[in-house]
Amino acid sequence: MLAVIGGSSLSQLAGLDVSHREVLRTPYGEPSGAITFGQMFGRPMAFLGRNGYGHTILPHEVNYRANLWALHERGALGIISVASVGSIRADLKPGDVVIPHQIIDYTWGRKSTYFEGLDRGVTHVDFTEPYDANLRKQLIEAAREVGVPMSDSAVYAVTQGPRLETAAEIDRLERDGADVVGMTAMPEAALARELGVPYASIGVVANHAAGRGASRHSISFESIQAVLERSMGGVRNIIEKMVERGG
Ligand code: HPA
Repeated sequence: MLAVIGGSSLSQLAGLDVSHREVLRTPYGEPSGAITFGQMFGRPMAFLGRNGYGHTILPHEVNYRANLWALHERGALGIISVASVGSIRADLKPGDVVIPHQIIDYTWGRKSTYFEGLDRGVTHVDFTEPYDANLRKQLIEAAREVGVPMSDSAVYAVTQGPRLETAAEIDRLERDGADVVGMTAMPEAALARELGVPYASIGVVANHAAGRGASRHSISFESIQAVLERSMGGVRNIIEKMVERGG
């Protein structure tokens, strides 16, 4: 079963032929909301909205451990995460899509591992390549096929939020090598790795990052909303194409 975690750029999966919804409890608490199960092109799929019903859960408040645990427990063999991001790299414009290949984590204080507690030994996971190569390839090919403007690599800087960054912080992220900035890839990607579930992400560029392009003096929330609404169709098309191709 393929699972999709949606964010502000994908609040539901319209092409899903829904069979049922389930509210799950995990040893780590409750996921962001009920998981929707169904089929797409005859394949089993699950959808979970990261920000909860009515979009009330902020990125630093999301129970990432419960979300990933619940999807894993219900049989997710791959997870596609959809997230909106701001663009740092000059050639990335609002409305573009990126399939990130690397992550730099600037978050703090989030519960970011399943390996804690006295009964656990010291456990490390390899995270050299945080995204699954095969899922990324399928997303890239699907995006090309449906003709959505897409960058097939990007370094995703994950900030704590919920405030947006200062212009100087964005300059620093660029010096660090980041192409886009968002608030949700971590600990999501690391938890998927701890569970051994392949994970890849579709980043939707919602805005120029602080101090860049149209956001030189401030970031307009109205235009973010408009961009995300326009881009949602493209994201859906990518996912549907990937599933249709048997990915
Ligand atoms: N910064 C952090 N997260 C974001 C942004 C941004 O500019 N845009 C969308 N998510």
